[in-house]
This record gives sequence, C-alpha cells and structure tokens, in this order.
Amino acid sequence: MNKRQEKSSTEDHYRSVAEKFDYFYQEYYEGHIPVFMKWLDLKPSNIVADIGSGTGFIAEQLYELSGLNNPVWCVDPSAEMQETAWQRTGLYPVQKTAEEFVSDPEISQVFDRIICASATHHFIDPDAVFKGIVRSLRPGGFFIQVNTVAVGHPMFKSAEKICSTCRKNVVKPTPRLLQEMNLQGKISHQEVTTSTMTVTKSKLYEMFRCRYYELV
Ligand SMILES: C[S@@+](CC[C@H](N)C(=O)[O-])C[C@H]1O[C@@H](n2cnc3c(N)ncnc32)[C@H](O)[C@@H]1O
Repeated sequence: MNKRQEKSSTEDHYRSVAEKFDYFYQEYYEGHIPVFMKWLDLKPSNIVADIGSGTGFIAEQLYELSGLNNPVWCVDPSAEMQETAWQRTGLYPVQKTAEEFVSDPEISQVFDRIICASATHHFIDPDAVFKGIVRSLRPGGFFIQVNTVAVGHPMFKSAEKICSTCRKNVVKPTPRLLQEMNLQGKISHQEVTTSTMTVTKSKLYEMFRCRYYELV
C-alpha cells in the first residue's frame, strides 16, 4: 500500500468505527487513563495537546480529572471522530493531521504536555511530526507517546503478523527510531502492564465483527 492508499484506508476505518469507538475502547480507557494521569502529572495551568485524539475521550478525562484551566487541543483529521469531540467538555478540536498541525509556526513553544495515544503509527511523516512536536513544547514541557505493544489474545498475534507483511512501508516509530532522530532533550522508554481488560465474549465478537481495531 502506498502512502495515499494508506491514508484513505485509515480515513475509511475511522469513519466506520467513529460512532461506536468509545464503547469499543471503554475497557482500554479504564485501564489506561490512570496511567496517563500519573505520567502526565498535570497542573491546572498546563496547556495540553492530544495528537490523534480520536473522539476526545482521553482529553476530556484529562481536562476533568486535572481541573485544567484551558481546553485540551484535540488534533485529529477524522471528521467523524471530531464530531464526537465537539460535543465534549473542555476540548478544542482541531481537524488536521499531525503533519499539518506541527507545520503551523503559531504553535511554537505553546504546550506543556503533549500526548499521543495509539496514533503515531498513522503519521505519514513521523520524522517531521516528532521534530515539530519538540518545537511546540514550552521549556520544561514533555511529550508522551503511548503504544500498545502486545495484547494477550492470540487473535491479535496473527493479525499483527499479517499486517506487518502487508503494510511494510508504514513506519512505526519505535524508541530506537526516536533516538536516531536527534531530537533535543531526553528520551525515555517504559513498558507498562495495565490492569487486565475484561470484556464479555459477545462484546468481543461484536468488536471483531465491526473491525473495531484496524489490524483485525
Ligand atoms: C486508534 S485511534 C486513537 C484515538 C485516541 N488517541 C484514543 O486513544 O482514543 C487513532 C487516531 O489517529 C487519527 N489519525 C490518523 N491519521 C493521523 C495523522 N496523520 N495525524 C494525526 N492523527 C491521525 C485517526 O483519525 C484516529 O482518530
């Protein structure tokens, strides 16, 4: 798949799952949000951006749980995902790709925290995006990239295998790649096991039928 085909298949995927996205990821959010809160260590005065923010569920939680004074910038190119984000509290949705967003000189040194959960693998130009993210951080600010590296269910293992053969040209920014990019500042990498996700069998089958996860 070339980059254009990849982009349009990503758009189609999120168009089809947008309506049920929060329901599909409810258990994932329950396990992950306490971890995000701990890592982000937010202060009410922080200016926060969520890149690849989807429906804005995470951003709304960060806003409410930390009592932020300013809305969280939610950057996502999908109109359907952003439609839900517009209905939430404490968000400032920006319908752009990460590439478009970071190329705007107006956002230089604006953010105290930037989070990107399960979206960096969609970046068309990860090198430009990561450098842009560094430019958009204020002194003392930091960026957190969150990726799921393993899901216990065997279904995901075979899906990962198939995907790595059919999407060879898609760059997954790994800690090693980030190190090689010569970004300013420190980079650290941590693997965390979140609490076990429990979903009923009927819900899991519904998730699979709806192809809730793009690799399935
Ligand atoms: C798996 S979802 C994650 C959504 C959200 N971070 C969450 O965890 O609920 C990935 C999101 O990345 C967005 N996305 C796709 N291509 C993107 C790009 N080039 N720049 C930024 N976001 C992108 C999709 O529209 C989708 O909403």
